[in-house]
Amino acid sequence: MRLEKKVIAITGATSGIGKGIARMLAKEGASVVLAGRNGEMGALLESELKKKGADCCFIAADVQKVEDCRALIDKTVKKYGKIDGLVNDAGIFPCIPFEEVTEEMYDRVMDTNIKGAYFCTQQAVSYMKEQGYGSIVNIGSTHWQTGGSGLSAYGVSKGGLHTLTEHIAHHYAPYGIRCNWVTVGWVMSEGELARLLDLGMTEEEIAAQAKKEIPTGSFQTAEDIAYACVYLLSDESRQVLGTDINVTGGFRSVGRIG
Ligand SMILES: NC(=O)c1ccc[n+]([C@@H]2O[C@H](COP(=O)([O-])OP(=O)(O)OC[C@H]3O[C@@H](n4cnc5c(N)ncnc54)[C@H](OP(=O)(O)O)[C@@H]3O)[C@@H](O)[C@H]2O)c1
Repeated sequence: MRLEKKVIAITGATSGIGKGIARMLAKEGASVVLAGRNGEMGALLESELKKKGADCCFIAADVQKVEDCRALIDKTVKKYGKIDGLVNDAGIFPCIPFEEVTEEMYDRVMDTNIKGAYFCTQQAVSYMKEQGYGSIVNIGSTHWQTGGSGLSAYGVSKGGLHTLTEHIAHHYAPYGIRCNWVTVGWVMSEGELARLLDLGMTEEEIAAQAKKEIPTGSFQTAEDIAYACVYLLSDESRQVLGTDINVTGGFRSVGRIG
């Protein structure tokens, strides 16, 4: 129960890594606000967690819309009276060569991956400042520095998220607000599996690629990422800010498929 009495909102809770993080936050005693667009998946997770005794609720939010970002945080505070933590997990990673990226796709990636996190953070910080406490965790990627081939827009968006992490960490520490980044290596989430199958890879080819590219020889799981988040959201990490916890199995994006 490392997160007992904490109220934590998480975007991207309806699938993959976010779903895994949400489950662990609930297991560790937090009251969890689950956000995403997919109401069906959100309701399913809410009822699964409630059956296990968790305090949680699903709030539909499209993080591409600034009003949804603000409403998500406002509703969290309205329901629970405070917000101790925010996990910015929502993200998309369409795979298209740099020279073929359209304005529409670029905007969609930026609006989801960086604008959404930016405005959820802005709203959360306004409450956290008053509370004198808050922990924000941004879900990062190895691609923030160079972007894998076909993942240039994605890489640029994660670069922005990295800068946001540093900005909040440096400027909001005096208000008791911490912001950190978790680098995800390679997790076979619902979204990642769909992306690779779409590229024409078979599940056997994907497994073989992972064995070759990940030094530990295996994918990370959503739970591996969640352990890092629990630490960063708990008081155990009260002196930790602006850090990067690499949960990558030693994986680096250079040479990565896609
Ligand atoms: N899988 C990996 O190997 C890997 C590696 C590095 C980093 N990451 C990062 O990990 C995070 C989660 O990815 P994943 O692999 O778990 O992918 P996923 O299975 O596709 O899940 C993506 C989540 O983002 C949410 N989302 C997407 N667009 C949204 C929007 N406009 N508004 C609100 N929510 C939105 C989705 O919810 P709805 O569809 O309900 O809106 C879903 O819950 C992303 O930030 C990704 O960049 C993943």
